[in-house]
Amino acid sequence: MSILCLVLVLMLSSASSTSCCTEHESNCLLQFLEGLSQDGGLSMSWRLGTDCCSWEGITCSSTVSKVAMVTDVLLASKKLKGSISPALGRLPGLLRLNLSHNSLSGGLPSEIMSSGSIIILDVSFNSLGRILPPSPPLTTGLKLPLQVLNISSNKFSTELPSLDAMVHLVTLNASNNSFNGQIPTDFCTNSPSLAVLELSYNQFSGRIPPGLGNCSRLRVLNAGHNSLRGILPDELFNATSLECLSFPNNNLQGTLEGENVIKLGKLATLDLRENNFSGNIPESIGQLNRLEKLHLNNNKMYGSIPSTLSNCTSLITINLGSNNFSGELVNVNFSNLPTLKTLDLRLNNFTGEIPESIYTCSNLTALRLSTNKFHGQLSKGLSNLKSLSFLSLTNNNLTNITNALQILRSSSSLTTLLIGRNFMNERIPDDDSIDGFEDLQVLSLSGCSLSGKIPRWLSKLSSLEMLKLKRNQLTGPIPDWISSLNFLFYLDVSNNNLTGEIPTALVQMPMLRPEKSAVQVQWHPRAFQLPIYRLTSLRQYRKANALPTMLNLGNNKFTGLIPPEIGQLKGLLELNLSANKLYGDIPQSICNLTNLLTLDLSSNKLTGTIPAALKNLNFLTRFNISYNDLEGPIPTEGQLSTFTDSSFIADAAACMLLPSVCLGLMVMG
Ligand SMILES: *[C@@H]1O[C@H](CO)[C@@H](O)[C@H](O)[C@H]1NC(C)=O
Ligand SMILES: *[C@@H]1O[C@H](CO)[C@@H](O)[C@H](O)[C@H]1NC(C)=O
Ligand SMILES: *[C@@H]1O[C@H](CO)[C@@H](O)[C@H](O)[C@H]1NC(C)=O
Ligand SMILES: *[C@@H]1O[C@H](CO)[C@@H](O)[C@H](O)[C@H]1NC(C)=O
Ligand SMILES: *[C@@H]1O[C@H](CO)[C@@H](O)[C@H](O)[C@H]1NC(C)=O
Ligand SMILES: *[C@@H]1O[C@H](CO)[C@@H](O)[C@H](O)[C@H]1NC(C)=O
Ligand SMILES: *[C@@H]1O[C@H](CO)[C@@H](O)[C@H](O)[C@H]1NC(C)=O
Ligand SMILES: *[C@@H]1O[C@H](CO)[C@@H](O)[C@H](O)[C@H]1NC(C)=O
Ligand SMILES: *[C@@H]1O[C@H](CO)[C@@H](O)[C@H](O)[C@H]1NC(C)=O
Ligand SMILES: *[C@@H]1O[C@H](CO)[C@@H](O)[C@H](O)[C@H]1NC(C)=O
Ligand SMILES: *[C@@H]1O[C@H](CO)[C@@H](O)[C@H](O)[C@H]1NC(C)=O
Ligand SMILES: *[C@@H]1O[C@H](CO)[C@@H](O)[C@H](O)[C@H]1NC(C)=O
Repeated sequence: MSILCLVLVLMLSSASSTSCCTEHESNCLLQFLEGLSQDGGLSMSWRLGTDCCSWEGITCSSTVSKVAMVTDVLLASKKLKGSISPALGRLPGLLRLNLSHNSLSGGLPSEIMSSGSIIILDVSFNSLGRILPPSPPLTTGLKLPLQVLNISSNKFSTELPSLDAMVHLVTLNASNNSFNGQIPTDFCTNSPSLAVLELSYNQFSGRIPPGLGNCSRLRVLNAGHNSLRGILPDELFNATSLECLSFPNNNLQGTLEGENVIKLGKLATLDLRENNFSGNIPESIGQLNRLEKLHLNNNKMYGSIPSTLSNCTSLITINLGSNNFSGELVNVNFSNLPTLKTLDLRLNNFTGEIPESIYTCSNLTALRLSTNKFHGQLSKGLSNLKSLSFLSLTNNNLTNITNALQILRSSSSLTTLLIGRNFMNERIPDDDSIDGFEDLQVLSLSGCSLSGKIPRWLSKLSSLEMLKLKRNQLTGPIPDWISSLNFLFYLDVSNNNLTGEIPTALVQMPMLRPEKSAVQVQWHPRAFQLPIYRLTSLRQYRKANALPTMLNLGNNKFTGLIPPEIGQLKGLLELNLSANKLYGDIPQSICNLTNLLTLDLSSNKLTGTIPAALKNLNFLTRFNISYNDLEGPIPTEGQLSTFTDSSFIADAAACMLLPSVCLGLMVMG
C-alpha cells in the first residue's frame, strides 16, 4: 500500500467504505500512462501518491477488507494515443478492460491476452496490429477466464491465432481487420460456450470449416466480406442454435439444401447475398417461422418462390434481387407477412400480375419489382400501403399510366417513384386531377415513349429533387414553372421531341445557382430506403446528394442561342445540350462553370471560335463539342489537353486525317 493510503486508512480508522489500491497496481497503471503519447487529460487525476481507485476511468472492488483491487479500467473514447503497456496485464484483479475508440497503436500485449483475470476485453476501434498474440497452448493446462474479446476495427493482419486456452469465450468480434488465411477449424472444441463469432470485413480465404458445426451454442455467425469459397458444409447446420447466419459478399457456391435449412429453426437472419449460390429456395424455408431477414440477392438462384415462404410470418426484409427467379408471385400469400417492410425482387424473371396480397402488408416502406415481366394495370389496393416511401416498378410491362398516377397520388408517404420503361407509347396525362405526391423527391418516367407535353401537375411536386423524363416523345417547350421547383437539382429531359429556346427559367433553378441560398442550406436529404442505380454505372446511390447536379437537354429539337446566363449555374456538374439545333457562339460564360465534370455541346450548329478559357474547367472528365461549325485553334492547355481531337472536331478534313474521330462520340479524359 502506498504511504498516503496507509495514512488515510489509519486516519479514517474503521470508516469501513474506504479502500485503496496497492502500490503494484498504481505502478502498473502509471506504466500504462507512460506508454501513451497523448493521455487525453488522464494525468490530471492519475498522480503518484494518490489512491488509484479514485483515478479517472478506474473502478475498484468494494471490499470487505481494507485493500481494494482494480477491477475495471474503462477508458473508451478518451483520445488516447500511443501503445498499450503489458503492465495492464499484471493487474491481479482486473475484470474489465475497455480501451475502445482511441488511437492506440502497436501490438496487443500477450500479457493482456493471457490475463488470468480479465473477462471482458474491448480494444475495438484503434490501430492495433499486426500480430494478435496466440493464447497459451492447451498443453500448458491454462484456462483463461476471458468471455468477451472485441478486437474489431483494428489493423491485425496475420492469420487468426489459436485461442485454445480461452475455454470460456462467449463472444469474439474480429471484424474489420485484415486477418487472412483460413478460418480456424476448431473454435468450439476448446471454447464450447462460443455464442457470437464475427469475422466479417477481413481477408479470410479457403472454405468454411465444417468444425463450426460443433458450436452448439453459436447464435451469431458472421463472416461476410471475405474471400471464402466452396459450399456451406452440411455439418454447419448442426449448429442448431444459430439465429444469424451471414456470409454476404464472398465466393461461395452450391445450393441451399432443404434438409439442412430445416434444422435451423431459430434462424432470424439468413444473409447469403453477393455470392455464386445456385438452385432453388427450398420449400422447407417455411419452417423458419422466426425468420426476419432474408437476403439472397446477387446470386445465380432460380426457380419459383415456394408458397411456403408465406409461413415465415416474422419476415421484415426480403431481398431476392439480381437472380434468375421466375414464375408467378401469386403463389406466395403476402397477407401472412404483416411485418414486412422491404421487398426487393429487382432483376429477375417474374411474370404475371403484381399479387394483390402484397397490398395487405400495411407496414411496407420499400417495394422494388423493377426489371421483371410483370404486366397489367396497377391495383387500387396499392393505396393501402400508407407507409410506402420507395416504389420502383421500372422496366416491366405495366399499362395505363393515367390509372397508375391516379392511384399513386394518394400514397402520401412516397418519396421515390421509379416507374419508367412501362406504359409504352401511352400519352402522359395532363389533367389537374393529378395532385398529391407532396413528399415526392425522385420521379422517373423515363423510357416509356410517352407523348404529350411536360404536364403542369409536375409543378405541384414542391419537394422534387430529381426528375427523369428521358427517352419519351414529349413535345412542346420546357415550361417556365420549372424554376419554381425549389429543390430540383437533377433534370434529365434528353431524347424527346422538345422544342423552343432554352428558357431563362432554367437558369433560375435555385439548386443550380451559386449562392448558398436558403433552400440549399435547408437541404438535408434523407437516405433512400433502398439504394438506387444509374443505368450508366453500376454504382449504388444511397442519398440524393451523392448524385451530380445535372441538366440534360440532349437530343431534342431546341433552337436559338445558348443563353449566356447559363454561366451562372455554378453548381452544375453535368451539362448536356448536344444534338439540338442550337446556333451562335459558345458563350464565354460557360468557362465560369468551373465545377463541371461533363460538358457536351456536340451536334448542334454552333459557330465562332472555341473559347480559350475552357481550359479553366479543371474537373472535366467528359468533353465534346464536335459536330458543330466551330473554327479557330483548339485550346490545348489545362484539362483540355487530356482530350483527343475527336472531342473538338468532326469535319470532313478531320475525318480524312483521323477516321476514328467521326466514330467516337464522347471521349474520356
Ligand atoms: C466499451 O465502451 C464503449 C463506449 O462506452 C461501449 O460502447 C462498449 O459497449 C464498451 N464495451 C463493452 C464490452 O462493454
Ligand atoms: C465490442 O463487443 C462487445 C461484445 O459484442 C460489445 O458488448 C461492445 O459494445 C463492443 N464494443 C464497441 C465499442 O462496440
Ligand atoms: C463487431 O464490431 C463491429 C465494429 O467494429 C460492429 O459493427 C459489429 O456490429 C460487431 N458485431 C457484433 C456481432 O457485435
Ligand atoms: C472499420 O474500421 C474503420 C477504422 O477504424 C472505421 O472507420 C470503419 O467505420 C469500420 N467499419 C465498420 C464496418 O465497422
Ligand atoms: C453433423 O452433421 C453431419 C453431416 O450433416 C452428420 O453426419 C452428423 O451426424 C452431425 N453430428 C451431430 C452431432 O449432429
Ligand atoms: C406452410 O405452408 C403450406 C402452404 O403454403 C401449408 O400447407 C403448410 O401447412 C404450412 N406449414 C406450416 C408448418 O405452417
Ligand atoms: C407496423 O409498424 C408500427 C410502427 O413501426 C408498429 O407499431 C406495428 O407493430 C407494425 N405492425 C406490424 C403488423 O408489424
Ligand atoms: C424468363 O422466363 C421465360 C419463361 O417464362 C424464359 O423463356 C426465359 O428464358 C427466361 N429468361 C431468362 C433471362 O432466364
Ligand atoms: C406487354 O403486355 C402487352 C399487353 O398486356 C402484351 O401484348 C405484350 O406482349 C407484352 N410485352 C412483353 C414484352 O411481355
Ligand atoms: C386507364 O385508367 C383510367 C383511370 O383509372 C380509366 O378511366 C381507363 O378506363 C383505363 N384505361 C384502360 C384502357 O383500361
Ligand atoms: C419525334 O421525333 C422523331 C424523329 O424526329 C419522329 O420520328 C417522331 O414522330 C416524333 N414524335 C412526336 C410525338 O412528335
Ligand atoms: C464569370 O464570373 C465572374 C464572377 O462571378 C464575373 O465577374 C464574370 O463576368 C463572369 N464571366 C462571364 C464571361 O460571364
